[in-house]
Amino acid sequence: MEQNEKIKYVRGMFNEDLKDVNNLIVLNEIKVKYLGKKGITQDLFKVMKVLDKKEKKEYGFLLNELMREINQSLTTLKEELELKELEMKLTHEKIDVTLPGLNITTGAPHPMSKIIDEISELFIAMGYDVISGPEMETDLYNFEYLNVPKHHPARDMQDTFYITEEMLLRTQTSPAQVRTLLANKEKGPVRVICPGRVYRRDNDDATHSHQFAQIEGLVVDKNISMAHLKGTLEIFAKKLFGSDREIRFRPSYFPFTEPSIEVDVNCFNCNGNGCAICKQSGWIEILGAGMVHPHVLKMCGYDSEVWTGFAFGMGVERIAMLKYGIPDIRDFYTNDLRFVKQFDQFEGGE
Ligand code: PHE
Repeated sequence: MEQNEKIKYVRGMFNEDLKDVNNLIVLNEIKVKYLGKKGITQDLFKVMKVLDKKEKKEYGFLLNELMREINQSLTTLKEELELKELEMKLTHEKIDVTLPGLNITTGAPHPMSKIIDEISELFIAMGYDVISGPEMETDLYNFEYLNVPKHHPARDMQDTFYITEEMLLRTQTSPAQVRTLLANKEKGPVRVICPGRVYRRDNDDATHSHQFAQIEGLVVDKNISMAHLKGTLEIFAKKLFGSDREIRFRPSYFPFTEPSIEVDVNCFNCNGNGCAICKQSGWIEILGAGMVHPHVLKMCGYDSEVWTGFAFGMGVERIAMLKYGIPDIRDFYTNDLRFVKQFDQFEGGE
């Protein structure tokens, strides 16, 4: 019964090997050694072929018993080792669940970025390009090309930070009109908005800041009339402040537009009935605008008999203050994250 002895021998060897198993990796090696495709028990099965019926029965029985034992031992040991490893991990990686969690704060867009994006998108949808111009401008573009020669009284409308006699911090985004018209070599149609910072020598208070943002708009084409301006600004007001809004034009004066107007929107708070926000008037001023002065067109190389256009300019902080109910313009610049965070919830226009 040489073959039966072999089984005994393998059993002895297995039990010896098992004593050395102290982790799951070694356990797996042992498993492969005995039960793998090329494992020891496979050799034992091969013996079957050469045995007669009686021997086969006896040998088969012993072999099955051995297989069962090996499987059983490995499974039991595996469970034990897994438990041991888990316990080790738990003692090493103890977590104090009573510690306060890490407070992960997410950023929020600044209300100024939010409103500029919203207004830009609104005009992009109407076919406008968004352009930018330098904040340090020449007197020429900021004033002279805009119909304000040196010593013109209109210069008093905007108290200016001069850097040199010719260089200044732009007081308005309107020089972007000049730059756009001059750069348009074919003297063809133009439809742009220009958001950007502007500077004026003002004493800062709740509604004034020496630095603020404007968005300028300019459209030049053949047969552009005031009706186009009105239609455009009406869409703008309704999209930004709600579909119930109406606008009205009031005559005004800007040197580079003729006629010039100021644009009011009926109060979104009281619907025009009169409240604190609209100072009981029912209307809130939102921007200045007008038809581009023929002289400005001419200076920029456009034939003012053929081309007409409109322009508008708004103070962005003012629009944001109205839309979000911000009482003090200085809140935009004091970098208080609690202030910025509040606007996370505001969705875009309609
Ligand atoms: N630039 C003017 C201002 O700052 C606003 C404006 C722009 C008016 C375009 C008319 C046309 O007051």
